[in-house]
Amino acid sequence: MTTKRSITSLEVFLQSFFKDEKKLLLANYPGLTLHRLRDDIKLHAFLNGVDSEELFDFPYIPYHSNPITLFFEKLKLGVPLEYITGYAYFYRSLYKVTPDVLIPRSETEILVELATLEIQKNYSNRTCRLIDVGTGSGIIALTLMMEDFATLEVVASDISEEALILAQENLFNLHYTISAKHSVKFIKSDRLKDIEGNFDIILSNPPYIKRLLDRGSVHHQVLSYEPEMALFLDDESYDIWFEDFFKSIYQKLNQDGLSLIEGHELYLEGLAEKAIKIGFSKVEVIKDYTGRNRFLRLKK
Ligand SMILES: C[S@@+](CC[C@H](N)C(=O)[O-])C[C@H]1O[C@@H](n2cnc3c(N)ncnc32)[C@H](O)[C@@H]1O
Repeated sequence: MTTKRSITSLEVFLQSFFKDEKKLLLANYPGLTLHRLRDDIKLHAFLNGVDSEELFDFPYIPYHSNPITLFFEKLKLGVPLEYITGYAYFYRSLYKVTPDVLIPRSETEILVELATLEIQKNYSNRTCRLIDVGTGSGIIALTLMMEDFATLEVVASDISEEALILAQENLFNLHYTISAKHSVKFIKSDRLKDIEGNFDIILSNPPYIKRLLDRGSVHHQVLSYEPEMALFLDDESYDIWFEDFFKSIYQKLNQDGLSLIEGHELYLEGLAEKAIKIGFSKVEVIKDYTGRNRFLRLKK
């Protein structure tokens, strides 16, 4: 006996998939909407050579090597959407991401905005030397290079070689949006240890979650798929890691320079006290849009 399989459009398949798998999808992708899923499928299809306005009206045949089938299979496993498509939006651009780098978070856009204000205010008529420590996919450094308020001499550093390779790929992909007046160097370094010279602006979104104490509060999808190195620091050396970092920031920051560091809502007040002890005269904790402590603003 043969069973008759009806052929449906991708839209019909997607809607019933979303309905049938809703519980599993929302456990892995909090707040996921059908609209977002449709956009990501469109992006995924486009990146796999299927660029069609009528994609969702076409019959969907779930053969194994169909890129859309692979998309649905990864979705069922709970792979982050950005690692499925290989791309993530940050600020106004699309960045390539792999499991070697953190998926950009929206709160980091605030750090970029704060840095942009500083550049606009103080560097319209002089070159600004800037470093992004722990650049990952390069989002902070490259987003700032897309602005045109000043000439930037940028260093993008990371302890991970894989991250640096990806950041350079993103520079290549986005180079047409970046003015030739800016320059950038990619350097492998533990914080500022192998970095030469001084800076006007030192930016960093470092790993800031305590490996043991905070593990329970991290979403299981983040734990399963995002790189440990981008997320966690050892509990026992957490404070000393930041103290050493702040000391080197103090040494490498020009007298009228500014440092902005993203951090954990629970520890930023304590880290602010450490920064004051190290010698920074203006230390401010800045909140994100959810009202949580999120950044340190340090001036000498
Ligand atoms: C939270 S992720 C931030 C990535 C990217 N800047 C962003 O905002 O999405 C932290 C980054 O710091 C890097 N990192 C971890 N330890 C480091 C260290 N000791 N020195 C320099 N970079 C480090 C990781 O490889 C990772 O790319």
